[in-house]
Amino acid sequence: MSRVVRFDRFGGPEVLQVVEEPVAEPGPGEVRVALRAAGLNPADYKRRAAPGPYDVTFPAGIGRELAGIVEATGPGVERLVAGDQVFGSVPDGAFAERLVQAESYFERKPLGLDWETAGGLALAGQTAWDALGSQDLRAGDTILVSAAAGGVGTVLTQLAVHRGIRVIGSASRGNHDWLRSRGVEPVEYGDGLVAAVRALAPDGITAAFDLHGADAVRQFLELGVDPERINTNATDPEPFGIRRVGRGPTDLDTLGALAALVVAGRIELPIAAAYPFDRVRDAFERLEIGHVRGKVVLTGDAPVSVELATPEP
Ligand SMILES: NC(=O)c1ccc[n+]([C@@H]2O[C@H](COP(=O)([O-])OP(=O)(O)OC[C@H]3O[C@@H](n4cnc5c(N)ncnc54)[C@H](OP(=O)(O)O)[C@@H]3O)[C@@H](O)[C@H]2O)c1
Repeated sequence: MSRVVRFDRFGGPEVLQVVEEPVAEPGPGEVRVALRAAGLNPADYKRRAAPGPYDVTFPAGIGRELAGIVEATGPGVERLVAGDQVFGSVPDGAFAERLVQAESYFERKPLGLDWETAGGLALAGQTAWDALGSQDLRAGDTILVSAAAGGVGTVLTQLAVHRGIRVIGSASRGNHDWLRSRGVEPVEYGDGLVAAVRALAPDGITAAFDLHGADAVRQFLELGVDPERINTNATDPEPFGIRRVGRGPTDLDTLGALAALVVAGRIELPIAAAYPFDRVRDAFERLEIGHVRGKVVLTGDAPVSVELATPEP
């Protein structure tokens, strides 16, 4: 048996239940992964809270990114073997102590990447990578990012800094020192943002990335950023005539590159809080306050019977 997080009605964190289910065997092209850590994302609570543009069949699973140990492989699986430590993003159901999913969702986890960071990296990280890549940017350009200290923002801003781009990011004061330490110029969100950005970048902003919502987009437009140069992941782009480039299909090369940047210290993904599996409701309550730096993760420690290819971090 394996513990799995499920919900059978829409609502707040209280609808989440930890239930026991039989462990499935992997089918063709699939692997079974024993969970070590899984990242929470706003998409999880949006999907849980109310009917929307998501595929929900009750009792529904939840969770879209994780790291763990391959316990078993199905027919035709050639790249991964039992004992591999992996991380990746799945369509659904990541919050399970043992889950069966396609091998193609998982990349090997480097030895130097800790479980919690690996568990929160795949979805937030690839979203940041793909969104940043949606604009043609060069070293010396200046970008503005809202919610710069969140799960996606921490990665997007540091990726840009790594590429030689000047980054101005919005966050509350408590996150400013951390942003500065990562090469990002912080501004406070709210009424003073437009004036603060004009003072920092009088020659203008090359492109802007919204990770918060419509208020931030309105400010980007007020600053004179070309709508073609504004990307949002957090609101409907249509009323503003801007772009919405989110995460594309799982790309293992991107996951590998992100992991390498973290191991090399070029990107830090802060873990704001880690909760044991049973405390999934508390984990969501923490995330849904809306002021997380980096990621909230759930942890799992179910024993595995396979020999590990490398020692656990
Ligand atoms: N495929 C996709 O397109 C895709 C994938 C992932 C995420 N998303 C979306 O992208 C958005 C960001 O996701 P995330 O995981 O980064 O969220 P998150 O980690 O929950 O974002 C938290 C951050 O929001 C900041 N924030 C709170 N109020 C703000 C305000 N008024 N103005 C600016 N920033 C504010 C907070 O900063 P302080 O703590 O400093 O207050 C905090 O650091 C969400 O809407 C999510 O659904 C889309």
